[in-house]
Amino acid sequence: MKTILDFQEKKDKKQKISMITCYDYSFARIVAASDIDCILVGDSLANTMHGFKTTLNASVNMMALHTAAVVRGAGDKFVIGDMPFMSNRKGLTANMTAVERIMKAGASAVKLEGALGNLSLVRHIVDSGVPVMAHLGLTPQSVNQLGGFKVQGRDEKARRLIKEHALQLQDAGAFAIVLECVPSSLAKDITDSLHVPTIGIGGGPDCDGQVLVLQDMLGMNNDFKPKFLKRYFEGFDAIKGAFNTYHEEVTSGAFPTEKESYS
Ligand code: KIV
Repeated sequence: MKTILDFQEKKDKKQKISMITCYDYSFARIVAASDIDCILVGDSLANTMHGFKTTLNASVNMMALHTAAVVRGAGDKFVIGDMPFMSNRKGLTANMTAVERIMKAGASAVKLEGALGNLSLVRHIVDSGVPVMAHLGLTPQSVNQLGGFKVQGRDEKARRLIKEHALQLQDAGAFAIVLECVPSSLAKDITDSLHVPTIGIGGGPDCDGQVLVLQDMLGMNNDFKPKFLKRYFEGFDAIKGAFNTYHEEVTSGAFPTEKESYS
């Protein structure tokens, strides 16, 4: 997928969209060689790349640096850059400066969390020529306000509010909406009510697409096993195994041999 028009086309043709997060050049090259549709440089890089407990520590500098690295490896994949914590809540000039930095790092769109207080900004960003992906449900930048990383939209009032926000964000010009950790029935209701695609993460099978964090789906963290996650590789164990084999061969003298040496 190369443009936002491809997102709409996929929804219209009822074809699912696959999205993965990515934060560096090496993995971007592998994603670029794969069939995955698009890349999110998520603010989850605060966790996966920098070891913080929440995404609150991601900054515009970090997002711009990682976005630029990903774009250099991503070929013609569509790359979305996350607006980090607070970068869209500091007044129009600061907000637009953050958008500008992420776009000038090479992203094709930005993503921002939540609807409350963001609707006119989404409209302004879109009217400035920058596609916006929205993000509802469990919005990790609001973890303190939400009282933890919990499934959202469990009661009728919360369901109604999330759906209303999705419709408002669509009206404000968002080209797609991430639905994170909401009951499948709510994700289906929202997906059926919107003309723009939904991308689920813990949103069940009826979203128009899915996103997973690269390190999570590759099993790089054995301690992280939320219900919504499916692992496609046991990365931690496989990579640790390679490191141990290397260590064993170095210490035993099995590596390097003549084959890896210059005459
Ligand atoms: O930052 C991120 O990785 C995200 C996805 C979980 C949607 O926002």
